[in-house]
Amino acid sequence: MTRAVLNFEHVAVRYHENRPPALNDVSFAIHPGERVALFGLNGSGKTTLFLAAVGLVPYEGIITVGGQVLGKKSLAEVRSKIGFLFNVPEDQLLFPRVVDDVAFTLIRKGAPAPEARQKALEALASLGADSLAERPPHELSHGERLRTALAGILVGNPLLLLLDEPSAGLDPPAKKRLARQLGDCPSAMLVATHDISFARLSCQRCIMLEHGRIVLEGQSFDEVETRWDLYGR
Ligand SMILES: Nc1ncnc2c1ncn2[C@@H]1O[C@H](COP(=O)(O)OP(=O)(O)OP(=O)(O)O)[C@@H](O)[C@H]1O
Ligand SMILES: [Mg+2]
Repeated sequence: MTRAVLNFEHVAVRYHENRPPALNDVSFAIHPGERVALFGLNGSGKTTLFLAAVGLVPYEGIITVGGQVLGKKSLAEVRSKIGFLFNVPEDQLLFPRVVDDVAFTLIRKGAPAPEARQKALEALASLGADSLAERPPHELSHGERLRTALAGILVGNPLLLLLDEPSAGLDPPAKKRLARQLGDCPSAMLVATHDISFARLSCQRCIMLEHGRIVLEGQSFDEVETRWDLYGR
């Protein structure tokens, strides 16, 4: 059995002592190259699960990334293995020009500036966003910012991608293109989404959360649809 890229063992997150936990006894593993969709209604714990995986919220249980247990000492190293797309992409755009923002992922890892810029331009082009390269992120539309943030993550070829609603607000051709691109991407990934057709295109299996617990895990996206139909009645 290959070593899991991401492993949760009985993980729980409590934001408040007197409220139910946001994540409750969550255990699963993602193996190299696997693309897994994370479903769940609003408030079911998807973003909380991601925050726990990068050590941004306190948790109980054990989380390992690439075989390394997440903890205070390993935090920086574990985070360097993960590409995390925030739910609000503008929160992760820091530089005055798009291309510099994307290139920073590589510069931070020691790449020479011209090489980082070239790779940043290629990453933007692969997302149909090369025309944005010289623009300031604060002037961009939501979908354009999303593509910029995604380019900054994909350019680093991380071991694990955590993508929090990556297709939200993208136009249909951009969604298809992104799904194809994620399908070609060698990184293991967990993709939180409400978009089942996007998930079918981009992921091989799924996990579904309900009130912070895993209620469904497998390859059947139809079961997710069935549950959604039930919720909607
Ligand atoms: N910082 C916080 N403090 C207290 N409670 C929080 C905090 N962040 C999230 N929660 C609560 O934890 C639960 C899970 O929230 P979370 O954001 O993980 O849900 P989600 O599945 O990502 O939802 P959505 O689909 O709306 O993004 C919710 O009940 C939410 O109100
Ligand atoms: Mg969320």
